[in-house]
Amino acid sequence: MGFEDYYKAFPTYTDVVSKDYQKRIQELKPHLIRVMKNTGKVLDLACGVGGFSFLLEDYGFEVIGLDISDIMIKKALSYAREKHSRVKFLIGDAKELPFDNNVFDYVLFLGNSTAHFLPNELNRVFKEVKRVLKKDGLFLVNFIDMRALIPRIRTGTVVGEKYWINRIIIDEDEKTALVEYKSEDDRFEVKFVIWGNTSINLLAKFYFRPVSEVKLDEFSYLKVYQKK
Ligand SMILES: C[S@@+](CC[C@H](N)C(=O)[O-])C[C@H]1O[C@@H](n2cnc3c(N)ncnc32)[C@H](O)[C@@H]1O
Repeated sequence: MGFEDYYKAFPTYTDVVSKDYQKRIQELKPHLIRVMKNTGKVLDLACGVGGFSFLLEDYGFEVIGLDISDIMIKKALSYAREKHSRVKFLIGDAKELPFDNNVFDYVLFLGNSTAHFLPNELNRVFKEVKRVLKKDGLFLVNFIDMRALIPRIRTGTVVGEKYWINRIIIDEDEKTALVEYKSEDDRFEVKFVIWGNTSINLLAKFYFRPVSEVKLDEFSYLKVYQKK
């Protein structure tokens, strides 16, 4: 789907010390800490390069980070070495978690990772999250309402320091959006799965009951669920 090019082009999800990554941490931190009242075992699902895993380790949580990308996990491991961190990073698929039932106090699914998963896939992820969470465990999902955002994006919009959006193609049943990014010397396409606030709520209802919700800005949310 071209996500590798996207992550290479923008530091928001790949460079922990960048302004954009730090901004995400600072925005989410107070909400995470407020909800995660007791320390315990955390699964940082689709952890990327692990910025949120390190944050929670600093607050006393025992953290496992899992991501399907070996590039992301390699970078997370290299940050971990630098920081002498004890976070365990694993390569794995969120749709098929390599953990026993009822082992985590918290599962985090942050940074709009939902955009990687088609509806049947996200259904499998949520089912797995429910399985690995302890009885009173919490599932924290942070995502962008792409259903609301996509119609507002205009071609020509500048993204980051050198790219602009050149084209957006929405598929017939409006499940995915193919976005073409261009710069003076580069071009790539990424296919985002369009999840909206309503569709996340509907899917979550099968497995979880809502505990709380924060609207972080016009388009992004942090939702907290407990398993049914
Ligand atoms: C937008 S990044 C978010 C990373 C991190 N949660 C953060 O907030 O910085 C989405 C991540 O989902 C990972 N991912 C995509 N499909 C996955 C899957 N099936 N299982 C686990 N991780 C996956 C990608 O490799 C990527 O690192």
